[in-house]
Amino acid sequence: MPQKLKHLLSTQSLKKSEIEEILALAKEMEPYAKKEKQGNQMKGKILAALFYEPSTRTRLSFETAMLRLGGETLSVTDVNTSSITKGESLIDTAKVISQFADIVAIRHSQNGAVNEFSKGSSVPTVNAGDGTSQHPSQALLDAYTIQKELGKIDGLTIAISGDLKYGRTPSSLAFLLSNYNIKFRFISPKELKMKPEVITHLNRLKTPYEQTQNFEKGMKDVDVLYMTRIQRERFENFKEYERLKNVYVLTKKIVLKNNPKMIIMHPLPRVNEIATDVDELKNAVYFRQVENGIAVRMAIILTRFL
Ligand code: CP
Repeated sequence: MPQKLKHLLSTQSLKKSEIEEILALAKEMEPYAKKEKQGNQMKGKILAALFYEPSTRTRLSFETAMLRLGGETLSVTDVNTSSITKGESLIDTAKVISQFADIVAIRHSQNGAVNEFSKGSSVPTVNAGDGTSQHPSQALLDAYTIQKELGKIDGLTIAISGDLKYGRTPSSLAFLLSNYNIKFRFISPKELKMKPEVITHLNRLKTPYEQTQNFEKGMKDVDVLYMTRIQRERFENFKEYERLKNVYVLTKKIVLKNNPKMIIMHPLPRVNEIATDVDELKNAVYFRQVENGIAVRMAIILTRFL
């Protein structure tokens, strides 16, 4: 009987034990991620990175993770160079790619596209971001970063700010952290409030959360401020984007005035929402998040084969 494929499609589908297994393994992977050791755990295996939507961090850190584990990579970085543009279905594409690769990391602009791909895939499929829906590897590296920076996840108050409607990282992270004893504060303009499915989920679990439009009040007394970009590419009305794009801009002065102790996170890329003077603060951890992404993606790759 073939083993059930270990896809990673969403954070809702992750059990707490699986999250903890990945976070613990990521810690073990740090020497490999930092090139202090060269791994061979994935020797003879190939990762296909199919990125049908732009990426810098996610694709390159999945590829780096695979290479530092001794594996190899194939990548598609432009949907126009793929037979999807000739009308090939995602299921057929998956059946084909499964002949070339042992694991796939795929990003797509449409919600649900990675689920669809996984139906045809005979190798583990990792969702590297689908539309406004999910970005589970980002949420795992975010959780890892919180644990590493603050020594725990349980008992924290976490503010998630910015574009909570179109962003996939806020909802992925909220679903993942709902496995812990967390208080949430969602800071957004009324047009970009947290997705109803997240609110319904938190209500069902009786997880405490507040929603506010007030940026400075919202960050007071939190342990983590998770900033996000207003997602220009998801707006149908460009004028609406222009009106909202600078709604919250975090500066060093605002941090020092309201909450100098909180850690400041961002999945990146940032546009205007965090001024570069914030980078000088020790508790600005967004570039450390990127570094953590390699070890976490190593753990994600390895656990697909356990
Ligand atoms: N955080 C993130 O997903 O970045 P990329 O779009 O560069 O992959």
